[in-house]
Amino acid sequence: MSKHTVFICKSCAFSFAQRDYLGQRGGKHLCDRIQDLAQNWHLKDDFFLQEVECLSACNRPCVVAFASPKKQFSCLEIYYL
Ligand code: FES
Repeated sequence: MSKHTVFICKSCAFSFAQRDYLGQRGGKHLCDRIQDLAQNWHLKDDFFLQEVECLSACNRPCVVAFASPKKQFSCLEIYYL
């Protein structure tokens, strides 16, 4: 079986009002956190996590995209509470 891929933009702003936090973009914080959490994820062998420079949705940080054999995803939006 081919692996699923999660693309994570490491350049996205931390929030709409704040580009960086502790000297890093919000997207980089998200990449690092996802990589940490994936260490103990029971599906980690089925997924490839790929950091990317930009996913061309910069006005909607933080941005991730999915690619999967024989599957299609449309826009998924997650909002901060
Ligand atoms: S900077 Fe994250 S999508 Fe462009």
